[in-house]
Amino acid sequence: MGRVQDKVAVVSGGAAGLGAASCRALAREGAKIVIGDLRAEPGEALAGEITASGGQAIFQHLDVRSEESWQALTERTLTQFGKMNVLFNNAGVALPTGDVEHLSLEDWHAVMAVNSDGVFLGVKHAVRTIRRSGEPGSIINTSSIMGLVGMATATAYTAAKGAVRLLTKTAALYCAKSGYDIRVNSIHPGFISTDMLHGTLAHTETTERRLKEIAESTPMGRLGEPMDIAYGVLYLASDESKYMTGAELVIDGGYTAQ
Ligand SMILES: NC(=O)c1ccc[n+]([C@@H]2O[C@H](COP(=O)([O-])OP(=O)(O)OC[C@H]3O[C@@H](n4cnc5c(N)ncnc54)[C@H](O)[C@@H]3O)[C@@H](O)[C@H]2O)c1
Repeated sequence: MGRVQDKVAVVSGGAAGLGAASCRALAREGAKIVIGDLRAEPGEALAGEITASGGQAIFQHLDVRSEESWQALTERTLTQFGKMNVLFNNAGVALPTGDVEHLSLEDWHAVMAVNSDGVFLGVKHAVRTIRRSGEPGSIINTSSIMGLVGMATATAYTAAKGAVRLLTKTAALYCAKSGYDIRVNSIHPGFISTDMLHGTLAHTETTERRLKEIAESTPMGRLGEPMDIAYGVLYLASDESKYMTGAELVIDGGYTAQ
């Protein structure tokens, strides 16, 4: 019996990075997976990999900025697996960056559309779909250490991740007070070695030097691995965390303890 046996888990941004690691971890522990992402090729490949190793997974195109896209994904989830228990509401972008004095309104909106609007739409449609399923549910929203502390050059990113933190608490209170058995928590990764981290750095300066600086700025002295976050997702998705809602799970090598 796996830790999330027979639960149906949707993972947005599931084709890469933290989402892909979480899809693998959830599938290994018995969940049926719906991988939602803009990018079909890696999403289909991951679904194939999970299926080949004895699990159940499908890919569904998802643009988290679009309400219609969320509706299509939740309908497909119900058609394919008959219910939904878990949403790892994880898709996000790090670019464009910019300080508050120079960031354009267009760039601000581009980041907010994915990292804030997209998370809101995911919570909204997950609550509705989990309720239709008639089973307990867990929604896990990806915030960041940058939803807890600021960063001078990441204006829209930190604002969006801060919004995710409090959207999570508000949704958790709403569900609890409405008598829904749906828990909503946020997860706050530190610097984790994924395409996002590497891509952001390549955009700004010499990657190797900057990666070393980032590792050194983390008390544990190294970057995290995607599985460090996936284990947290697994815990929040499972009934092991059944008394936890509206909470923040920080996995950051000590970064925000400073
Ligand atoms: N990597 C880190 O250091 C780090 C730290 C803190 C928080 N996070 C957060 O974790 C989440 C995952 O980050 P990651 O490092 O795995 O990034 P990643 O770039 O490796 O993967 C992100 C995935 O999201 C998908 N995506 C982007 N826009 C989308 C959209 N509009 N609709 C659907 N899918 C979309 C991408 O195609 C990609 O597969 C993000 O929310 C990110 O902000 C990452």
